Order: sequence, then structure tokens, then C-alpha cells
Amino acid sequence: MPIAAEGVNYVYMAGSPYETKALDDVNLTIEDGEFVALIGHTGSGKSTLVQHLNGLLAPTSGRVLVDGQDLADKGTDRRAVRFHVGLVFQYPENQLFEETVEKDIAFGPKNLGLPQEEIGRRVREAMQKVALSYEELAQRSVFELSGGQMRRVAIAGVLAMEPKVLVLDEPCAGLDPRGREEILGLIRRLHEESGTTIVMVSHSMDDVANLAERVIVMEHGRIAMDGTPREIFSKGEALRAMGLDVPQAVELAEALRARGIPVPEGAYLPDEVAQAVLSAVGGGQQNAG
Ligand SMILES: Nc1ncnc2c1ncn2[C@@H]1O[C@H](COP(=O)(O)OP(=O)(O)O)[C@@H](O)[C@H]1O
Ligand SMILES: [Mg+2]
Repeated sequence: MPIAAEGVNYVYMAGSPYETKALDDVNLTIEDGEFVALIGHTGSGKSTLVQHLNGLLAPTSGRVLVDGQDLADKGTDRRAVRFHVGLVFQYPENQLFEETVEKDIAFGPKNLGLPQEEIGRRVREAMQKVALSYEELAQRSVFELSGGQMRRVAIAGVLAMEPKVLVLDEPCAGLDPRGREEILGLIRRLHEESGTTIVMVSHSMDDVANLAERVIVMEHGRIAMDGTPREIFSKGEALRAMGLDVPQAVELAEALRARGIPVPEGAYLPDEVAQAVLSAVGGGQQNAG
């Protein structure tokens, strides 16, 4: 289920004094099985872009194709597309509303008109995927849960639609370190074990470095860079000029180089930097861990 954006422009409140061009000639293709991180300064258009990927927003001009089908075509089953491309909003727990965890996760599958048995199976499976115990939590009110648990319930509701592509807009925002680790772990598992295509908006360059296979950098509604983490994070100066950070390992590599320790250009993972230090001090080949 590849997704392609072709010359996508999007304007908020066109014709009003508040008119804002949020997307400016965006072109990209996301292939099956990719793990794409979307980064960029606040206001660069990330949230607007991800809402185009499942047809929640329609381009002002240009087109978005899901599996080769133009979402704006009359013949395209937009409802079906929305189920194949699951979108987890920022702070998705704000949209939980049912009395119990089970009902909330079942809401989407129920709307699909699936048989009761199938709905039950999907709820259990989705809860398992987000590491929430069905026995313990299914009948609880979502408002009795921790912030991290509520977020996972919201994600489970999207997973219960069994999407092929999962798009997450800052899925760790506002969570404590433990909550963040849980969310990142489940996203990694979905990608590795189920082969789900992931598009994740993130502010954390360390999370991006750890997880993503491809990084797209947005600036002023445009795609400023698109490449592997190694390619993107070797352009520290350009990233900083856009108001973005680099992963901590990149900063450490720069500090080491400034002190005469030869860390290879493009190193962006802690292990690579550690290995370079070991080699420099004559420690030879050693594996971390
Ligand atoms: N609902 C909206 N109405 C008007 N302008 C908006 C709306 N949502 C976003 N914008 C504007 O569009 C631009 C892109 O915003 P957004 O896609 O939210 O960026 P990001 O997610 O990267 O922070 C910003 O200038 C923002 O102020
Ligand atoms: Mg946003």
C-alpha cells in the first residue's frame, strides 16, 4: 500500500486575512514496510502533511495516491483508504470517550459492521500489541488509567482497524520517560514483527536515530531533506540552521573530533562513537553490551 504525494499544496483559510500556506509543493513516496520519521520545526507542516496521508485533509492542489488511487477521484473508496492508513493524532487520548477501554477500542471495528466475534478478537489482539492486559483493563474506565496507558488505548483503537500503514503524530509528546519507552517499543515491534509501514512525526532526534530508516525534514511547508538517518544527521549545521537538534551521539562525535579523536563522519549511533573511541585509545574491536 504505497502512498505518494504529488505536488501537494495546502492552504488554511484561503482568501481570509489569516491565509496560511502550510504545504508547498510536497512530493514524496512512502513504500511498503518503510519506517519514516518526519521532523521539522513547529509550524513546518508536519501535522498538515500526515493528515493528507489518509485523506483527512485534501490538497488545495496536487494529489495524494494510496495504492495508486487518487484520494480525490470519485471512484476511490475513501472510507476503505482511511482504514488501511491508520492515523494516531497528537494527544489521541483526548478523543477517548467510551465508558470502558474495551468499548473504546471496539468503536472503529464496530463502525465497520464487523461481526461481534471478530470485534472481540480485534480488541484482544490490539490490546496485546500495545501491552495492555485484557483481563485487567478491558472493563475499566479509560479515565482510571495512567497517561501512558490512555495513550496506548488510543493507539489500540487505531490498530483494531488493522491498518497496513500507521501514521503517528508525535506519539510520545507529554509522556514521562517510561511512557515514551513503552510507546516506542510497541511501534518498533509493529514494524519489525508485523511489517507495518510506519510514518512517525517526532521532535526527539535520539528516537529518530534509534528507530527510523528514512528521515524527511520539513521546513516552511516544503521537504528540505529526505534521506537515511546517516545522510541527514551528517548535516548537523543545516539542521541547526533550521532550529533542529542532532542526536546526542552526533554531538559527542563532534566534541571528540574537536579533541583530536578521529570519529568517522556520519557516525550517529552511540555504538559507532564508542567503537571509534576504543580504536583511538587502542582498545581494538569490542562489542558493547
Ligand atoms: N487549523 C488550522 N488553521 C489555520 N492554520 C493552521 C491550522 N493548522 C495549522 N495551521 C498553520 O499551518 C502551518 C503548519 O502547521 P502544522 O502542520 O501544524 O505544523 P507542525 O505540525 O509541523 O507544527 C503553521 O503555520 C500553522 O500555524
Ligand atoms: Mg504538529
